[in-house]
Amino acid sequence: MTGNNPQRLDDKVAIITGAGGGIGGATARLFLDLGASVMLTDRDAPKLDEAAHRLSSDRCTTAVADSSDDAAMAGVVDSTLDRFGKLDIMVANAGTEGVLKPVDQLSHDEFEQVLRVNVLGVWVAIKLAARHMKSSGSGAIVALSSVAGAVGFPGMAAYSASKHAVFGLVKTRWKCRSSARRAEPAAVDWASPRSVRRRSGSGRASCGSASP
Ligand SMILES: NC(=O)c1ccc[n+]([C@@H]2O[C@H](COP(=O)([O-])OP(=O)(O)OC[C@H]3O[C@@H](n4cnc5c(N)ncnc54)[C@H](O)[C@@H]3O)[C@@H](O)[C@H]2O)c1
Repeated sequence: MTGNNPQRLDDKVAIITGAGGGIGGATARLFLDLGASVMLTDRDAPKLDEAAHRLSSDRCTTAVADSSDDAAMAGVVDSTLDRFGKLDIMVANAGTEGVLKPVDQLSHDEFEQVLRVNVLGVWVAIKLAARHMKSSGSGAIVALSSVAGAVGFPGMAAYSASKHAVFGLVKTRWKCRSSARRAEPAAVDWASPRSVRRRSGSGRASCGSASP
């Protein structure tokens, strides 16, 4: 009775990066409730185990990986295909705020680390998903930006720069798709959580969204 409901995700398979965190865990809960199978991935093994334990579903599996590591993420895609047979949705959610400091006091490493996770990691997820979805003929990619991707905040130079870059990545991918006259199947969407309230341990979060 759910086959024609566009809100349902029955038989869909999703990868969620940063699934050990608040929004990733809540997204996984929602996707499972809507009928999808999910591959949870995060670089933090204990958080990932905790998330999987909370979700407690046989439609859910995990893989520890750094989202900015091409080879590790290619392995996550392969494991997803081995376990579930396909990939329909990529949620590039893993992110970090980094250290909050005035721009002139940030070290090179502190700045680079934020860009590595928030930009390189999102690009890796988009790239791997797009390659797969081009050959399979369908799919959707969601990348998490932020209000900081549309405006700047004091002390958040690296985070804000990285989240602006997420919009650039998504818009570029969208243009590729448009200019290919929809020959490229992957839909590309973005979400900009504005305020998220986490209930520790519940795996639930509420969020607002904003478009640039
Ligand atoms: N929480 C908010 O209010 C808010 C607002 C705007 C945007 N966002 C964005 O939403 C996304 C999720 O935020 P959240 O609040 O759930 O954060 P969170 O800190 O609760 O979770 C982030 C998860 O990403 C994982 N992670 C970090 N770097 C990683 C890497 N290199 N490889 C794999 N996993 C990695 C962390 O281990 C963590 O489990 C982020 O991209 C964040 O920037 C959050």
